[in-house]
Amino acid sequence: MAASSTIADKCMKAYNHVFNPSLFKGQVAFITGGGSGICFTIAEVLMRHQCSTIIASRKLERVQQAAEELSKVTGQRCLPIQMDVRKPKEVVAGVQQAMREFGKINILVNGAAGNFVCPAASMSFNAFKTVLEIDTMGTFNTSKAVFDEYMRDNGGVIINISATLAYKATVLQCHASAAKAAIDSMTKSLAVEWGPLGIRVVGIAPGPIDDTEGIRKLAGPLAESIPKRIPLRRMGTKVDIADCAVFVASPAASYITGDTIVVDGGDWMTAPNDAEMRLESMKSLL
Ligand code: NAP
Ligand code: COA
Repeated sequence: MAASSTIADKCMKAYNHVFNPSLFKGQVAFITGGGSGICFTIAEVLMRHQCSTIIASRKLERVQQAAEELSKVTGQRCLPIQMDVRKPKEVVAGVQQAMREFGKINILVNGAAGNFVCPAASMSFNAFKTVLEIDTMGTFNTSKAVFDEYMRDNGGVIINISATLAYKATVLQCHASAAKAAIDSMTKSLAVEWGPLGIRVVGIAPGPIDDTEGIRKLAGPLAESIPKRIPLRRMGTKVDIADCAVFVASPAASYITGDTIVVDGGDWMTAPNDAEMRLESMKSLL
C-alpha cells in the first residue's frame, strides 16, 4: 500500500516461525512508523510471537486501521498512537499513554523515516532539515522518552532502523544518507552509555525491500534491475527485516549491542552508484 495514503497494510496470509512462537509473551514493543511497510511487518511478526505492540505515526486513521488488522490476525493487543517523532511533547505524551495502557515498554523500534530522491544542488534547506529531523532527531526523541519513562530503571532493547546509504555516499540522497549515518553513530553512543543499565541498542540496515514505500519512491525505473545486481539475486522482503528484529530483540542476541546489522543480500557492496546514470534513469522521480 502507498505510505502516502491512509489505507493500512494487510498482514501476511501465513508465517513460518523460526523462533518459539511465545518468545515475547508478556512483552510490549513500541514501534514508530508501525502503520506501514517494513515496520508494520515488524509489528506483525513480533505479535505473532505474542508481543503486545504500540504503533505510532502522524496519520491516526492509518495507525488505527493497521492496529485493527494486526490485532485481528494475531490475537494480540495493538494500540495506535498519533504522534510526530519530530515533536518531543507529542512523543513524550505518546510514550506516557503507552505506559498507562501497558505499564512497560520492553522493545523500542525506531522506524519512522522520510526520504525522496533529490540532487543536492536542487535540495532546499528545509528539505534537508526535514529528513534529518524525522530520522535522526525522531530516533533520539523517542529513545529518550522511552528511556525516561521505562528503560532507565528496567532495561530493554532499542532497534534503530537504518540503511546502507552512507556506506558508499549514495547519490541523490545526501539528506537520508547523513540522517542514517548519524543514527548509526547514535546506536553506538547510546549502547555505550545505556549498556550498564541493561539496555541494548542495535541497528538494522535493510537493503532494497520489495513492496515498500521506500522502494517505490527511491528506485523508480531501476527497481526491475535490482535483483540481478544483488549477490543473493533477489529483493529483500519485509519478513527478512522483521525476522532480524525478532532475533535482535530475543535472548539469542543478548551479547549484541552498538552494532548495525546489514540485511541486504550483499547489495551495498556491488550496487552501482554513478550520479549521472542515476540522474538520467530517475528523471521521472525528480
Ligand atoms: P514507510 O512505509 O513509508 O514507513 C515510514 C513510516 O514512518 C510511515 O509509517 C510514516 O507514517 C512514518 N513517519 C514518517 N514521518 C513521520 C513522523 N514525522 N513522525 C512519525 N512517523 C512518521 O517506508 P518503508 O519503506 O517501510 O521504510 C521503513 C523504514 O525502513 C525506514 O526507516 C526506512 O528508512 C528504512 N529502510 C527502508 C528501505 C526500503 O527498501 N524500503 C531500505 C532501507 C531502509 P505517517 O505517514 O503516518 O507518519
Ligand atoms: N524533492 C525535493 N524536495 C522535496 C521533496 C522531493 N521529492 N519532497 C518534499 N520536499 C521538500 C519540500 O519542498 C519542503 O521544502 P521547502 O519548504 O523548502 O519547499 C521540505 O521537503 C519538507 O516537505 P513537506 O512536504 O513540508 O514535509 P512533510 O513533513 O509533510 O513530509 C517528507 C516529509 C517530505 C519526508 C514526506 O515525503 C513524507 O512524509 N515521507 C514519509 C514516507 C517516506 O518517505 N517513506 C520512505 C521511507 S524510506
